Amino acid sequence: MIDSFASRAAEWDVAPKIEMTRKFVEALKSRVKINKSWKALEIGAGTGLVGLQLLPDVSKVVFEDTSEAMLDVLRSKLQPDDEVEIVHGEVFAYQQQDIDFVFSCMAFHHIPDMEAALKHLSAITRQGAVVVVGDLRTEDGSFHRYEPIPHKGFDTEALSQLFGNAGFETELMETYNVLSRERTEGIVTDYEQFILIARRK
Ligand SMILES: C[S@@+](CC[C@H](N)C(=O)[O-])C[C@H]1O[C@@H](n2cnc3c(N)ncnc32)[C@H](O)[C@@H]1O
Repeated sequence: MIDSFASRAAEWDVAPKIEMTRKFVEALKSRVKINKSWKALEIGAGTGLVGLQLLPDVSKVVFEDTSEAMLDVLRSKLQPDDEVEIVHGEVFAYQQQDIDFVFSCMAFHHIPDMEAALKHLSAITRQGAVVVVGDLRTEDGSFHRYEPIPHKGFDTEALSQLFGNAGFETELMETYNVLSRERTEGIVTDYEQFILIARRK
């Protein structure tokens, strides 16, 4: 498995990334009533910027990511009594069928086979489980400076359809933030971030 985040892990936790995850958590918490009994799974957890904010609100967080380097940074931040599990790999690496709550921030666009990933998510979640995704709406590829990635953002209607095919009902999808970035010198582009909330039928 190629770790395309290895060279960036040590410098990941900078102010703009922290702010981006703060906004996602704020958007999530204002829309979802989290239950303390929930076992949560974070897809593409990275260094834990999102999951560590939500850890006090749930019974346990399973942090899943394909980058060992990003997970190493997360491990360095954990306290001995934190109720966490770390899974290195794609979502398919988690096999127990006990997840009540799934969240993911800016990682879905890195998942190559979305259809298979959502079907697996359906298999490992309990009935009524809540899934919250924060990611980019369709963009021209400039967000990653034209590096090859599986998805140049998402058409949320199409993503919602895939959730539906996998056994989820979309409850909400809306823009929660706009990132203004100068990816090309002198040109500032606005990238919309959506939040999608789906429930496992
Ligand atoms: C843009 S970073 C976001 C990290 C974190 N969610 C945050 O907001 O700080 C994307 C993360 O997804 C991970 N990733 C890439 N491909 C993945 C896949 N197929 N399954 C799970 N995680 C993946 C990367 O290693 C990286 O940590």
